[in-house]
Amino acid sequence: MLDLFPSKLLLGPMAGVTDYAFRRLLREMGLEYSVSEMISAKGICYGNERTIDYAKSHESDHPLALQIFGSDPDYMVRAALYLEKNYQYEVLDINMGCPVKKIFKNGEGSALMKNEKLAMEIVASLVEHTSKPVSVKIRTGISEENKNAVRFARAMERAGASMVVVHGRTTQQMYSGRANWEDIARVKEALQIPVIGNGDISSLQEGLEKMRSYQVDAVMVARALRGNPFLVRDYKNYFEKGLEPLKPSMKEVVDAMRLHFSYLVEEMGEVYAASAFRKHGLWYVRDFAGSAKFRDRLSNIKSGQDLDDILSAILDIDY
Ligand SMILES: Cc1cc2nc3c(=O)[nH]c(=O)nc-3n(C[C@H](O)[C@H](O)[C@H](O)COP(=O)(O)O)c2cc1C
Repeated sequence: MLDLFPSKLLLGPMAGVTDYAFRRLLREMGLEYSVSEMISAKGICYGNERTIDYAKSHESDHPLALQIFGSDPDYMVRAALYLEKNYQYEVLDINMGCPVKKIFKNGEGSALMKNEKLAMEIVASLVEHTSKPVSVKIRTGISEENKNAVRFARAMERAGASMVVVHGRTTQQMYSGRANWEDIARVKEALQIPVIGNGDISSLQEGLEKMRSYQVDAVMVARALRGNPFLVRDYKNYFEKGLEPLKPSMKEVVDAMRLHFSYLVEEMGEVYAASAFRKHGLWYVRDFAGSAKFRDRLSNIKSGQDLDDILSAILDIDY
């Protein structure tokens, strides 16, 4: 698995953010390994087209892990077999970390961490009946009092998982507080298969520091890539050429925004692309002095022309 991401950076899946178009843009920046948004195994089995669409990827977007969620081993196997037959991907990832109530109360996502036996059965069935390597993405446990990541990850390894990603928070924490990297390190120490650390990394330096201090095989970054696809370039440049991080120029940011938007348009047409791009637009400009006056306009764009007008005005500002 490790040779799939020599720059030691994996994209953290984010439902509603790391879609086909955004992942395509990240590949332009040098991303080596991406993970799809989570896809419902039952949704796939029931032939729900919106669900199945999440499995689509651009030809540049590989190696790719498709991430499925569910709690029934039979559905999960049927879903994976469907994906294998119809979609291109290299790894099957199982979501065992989602804290969202609707998912958790169905026994899916991080609720699987309460049910080691079932989680093992899911992994073992997928390994037995499907052909791709199976990875799992977990949290440190359900709550501060029930941190079972070490035992649970060992069980996943025994069941046949090829890699474990650990987000250093409990389910109860959702996204609050800080990720606990000591907990992640304990999982790394206990396993033979690759262990990827995840949580709160927003720069190359932070990623390098985490790999050094906690000995994880690589890091996964999610939120910090929103509006900052250039972070991928920093990892790639460092591991390929030993280069220091590069702060993108305003022109590069604007070019990335244009490219991102054009990928969305190709995917869904201009009207939907405009509404899908609004949140991304705000993330791209969040750190720019003088961006405040564009926020309202960005969050209301209805066409490529609207976006172009704003980007031209941004480029006119003397930074
Ligand atoms: C909006 C949003 C959507 C997410 N969707 C998923 C998902 O579909 N599957 C998953 O395993 N994790 C999901 N996550 C969790 C992230 O992959 C990651 O574990 C978490 O954000 C911590 O990493 P970070 O600090 O680098 O953001 C999501 C997180 C956010 C903020």
